[in-house]
Amino acid sequence: MQERGKFYITTPIYYPSDNLHIGHAYCSTAADSMARFKKLTGYDTYFLTGTDEHGAKIERKAKEKGVTPQAYVDHIVAGIKDLWKLMDISYDDFIRTTDQRHVECVQRVFRKLYENGDIYKSEYEGWYCTPCESFWTELQLKDGCCPDCGRPVERAKEESYFFRMSKYQDWMIQYIQEHPDFIQPPSRTNEMINNFLKPGLEDLCVSRTSIKWGIPVDFDSKHTVYVWVDALTNYISALGFGTEHDELYRKYWPADVHLVGKEIVRFHSIIWPIMLHAIGEPLPKQIFGHGWLVINGKKMGKSVGNVVDPVVLCNRYSSDAVRYFLMREMPFGSDGEFTLQSMLTRINADLANDLGNLVSRTVAMIEKYYDGTLPELGKVEDVDRTLWQEALETPGKVENSVNAFQFSSALSEIWQLIGDCNKYIDVTSPWILAKSEEGKERLSTVLYTLAECVRRVAVMVGFVMPRTPERIFAQLGLEEEALKTWVSVAEGDFARLRAGTRVHKGEALFPRLDIQKELERDAPKEEPKKAEPKGEEKKPAGKSHHEVEYPAEISIDDFAKVKLQVARVIACEKVEKSKKLLKLQLSLGPDGQRQVLSGIAAWYTPEEMVGKQVVLVSNLKPAKLAGYESQGMVLCAATGDDSKLKLLTVEEGMDDGAVIS
Ligand code: MSP
Repeated sequence: MQERGKFYITTPIYYPSDNLHIGHAYCSTAADSMARFKKLTGYDTYFLTGTDEHGAKIERKAKEKGVTPQAYVDHIVAGIKDLWKLMDISYDDFIRTTDQRHVECVQRVFRKLYENGDIYKSEYEGWYCTPCESFWTELQLKDGCCPDCGRPVERAKEESYFFRMSKYQDWMIQYIQEHPDFIQPPSRTNEMINNFLKPGLEDLCVSRTSIKWGIPVDFDSKHTVYVWVDALTNYISALGFGTEHDELYRKYWPADVHLVGKEIVRFHSIIWPIMLHAIGEPLPKQIFGHGWLVINGKKMGKSVGNVVDPVVLCNRYSSDAVRYFLMREMPFGSDGEFTLQSMLTRINADLANDLGNLVSRTVAMIEKYYDGTLPELGKVEDVDRTLWQEALETPGKVENSVNAFQFSSALSEIWQLIGDCNKYIDVTSPWILAKSEEGKERLSTVLYTLAECVRRVAVMVGFVMPRTPERIFAQLGLEEEALKTWVSVAEGDFARLRAGTRVHKGEALFPRLDIQKELERDAPKEEPKKAEPKGEEKKPAGKSHHEVEYPAEISIDDFAKVKLQVARVIACEKVEKSKKLLKLQLSLGPDGQRQVLSGIAAWYTPEEMVGKQVVLVSNLKPAKLAGYESQGMVLCAATGDDSKLKLLTVEEGMDDGAVIS
């Protein structure tokens, strides 16, 4: 295929938090699908991802764990890379903000801004949200809290360097207005102009002296570069910007698209372009802000305590199925509700039934009627030509949709073809054709047409489901690489498969799932009723200690795996349909909030609980209790017969979130 130009795409660089959730995987899957599609369709593609490792939060977390920040992030970054491997995220480079190449690049950019007079020293006083590492003006606060995460902000004052953003305000507005494709979807353009640019750009505080875990300003090393200036620079530091080896930069910059979640569009479409403009470099062509995966309308996130683990989903249902669901279910750009039920329903309907059945029926009929050898085309009729035409037109439609980031529409175009193939089987009824000599002339055409359509579908789904094409090609007995390419479906005539190829029926592509069973898998198991009535009524949700057989001794390493933290109950309510459970909202201070269910309703009322500090097992794998996600376990002491139960707490004066060791 003739090369069609270059394409440089990036994801945001992720904060190394303990576990990335399916919301993060959504962003990477979309970027990966786009990168794969561009490669497939002939672009010289470069796909960058990485991790954003500096800042006060990481510094604090490492301290809690008793390790250096570097050791702390190294461990987590290894886990993130494992996740991307599991999900077939095919990045070309993984940039870490702790990489020396990045550190030096940030220092160069900062110095250049300073030398140009765009950075000056002054004193900063403002509202700072530590978890988001963002400064906010009074006007931007929402009910006095961070407008992004809703958490309290603190007044911060210190000697700082400032970036003259205000100087570029008019230029930025004009640029955005003259480049309507710069910020996508278009609704986000208005948001940036009306909410951030028109009210007036203030100069941005771009260094802190109180934070040590970061990149030092090289000409004034008590200052640490503001994390967003540090992080945004990754998009060019990874390409060797400003070094002797800047071949990648010269080849791929400006980026074709920075794909980011909607809450960070403002950093990418205001601060980043102004930084680039100020150092005389070209701007990225597009910032695309996608929506969030939400649960019950709330953004999935660790602080809300509603996260879904992509590792569990991929191991259970295959990464191709998870990727398919993410790209199919939500129109890209809008928020999308995530439920396990909707994912399982999609897997059964689209993958097991529509696609899986088409492949298995096609191969099974070739085995049955032609002894496993693909027949030549026979007599062709209008019904065949109509399907051929559709197969020939689908790639163009898919390409248009993918190029507009409409992954869901692209997949529905492919599934339209799959659906029409299944209808074609019903309409042509091969099993009837097989019964007469005249019918057999048609039968070969029908089965050839189906096999060719299956090949085309396999080529087209690969950008979202990278493991599926080869599994289908193996069933078709297709080895010829030229017939696995985009050109082989987007250009030329319909009939491309070589007659005489041997097909091989394989196992089901996507086995049908028992949805009810899958949904119950994580639901709490009913405990067997005990003879004594008080047992069921009063026992905590977890096993009480007298039911557990403890080993005689454990090592200190075993104990060290359990993370215990002080948490404050900020809200509490009874759980309908359960006599023993209370639903607690806990604050872990700087570590955010959690929802935990605890079997203490027989001993404590919700009102009594609010305000108490409790001891939380905070790294316990989340579980569902009575349909609610519980993120951790509150510790209690209980007598052997469960007649008494008391919560564990700490002496007054301890901070929420403090680690118990
Ligand atoms: N480190 C910054 C980005 C710096 S880029 C120069 C950051 N990191 S993050 O880990 O918090 O988020 C990374 C990406 O994941 C963001 O684009 C964010 O929108 C996305 N998501 C996090 N939760 C999400 C959902 N629930 N749904 C969809 N995307 C989500 O921000």
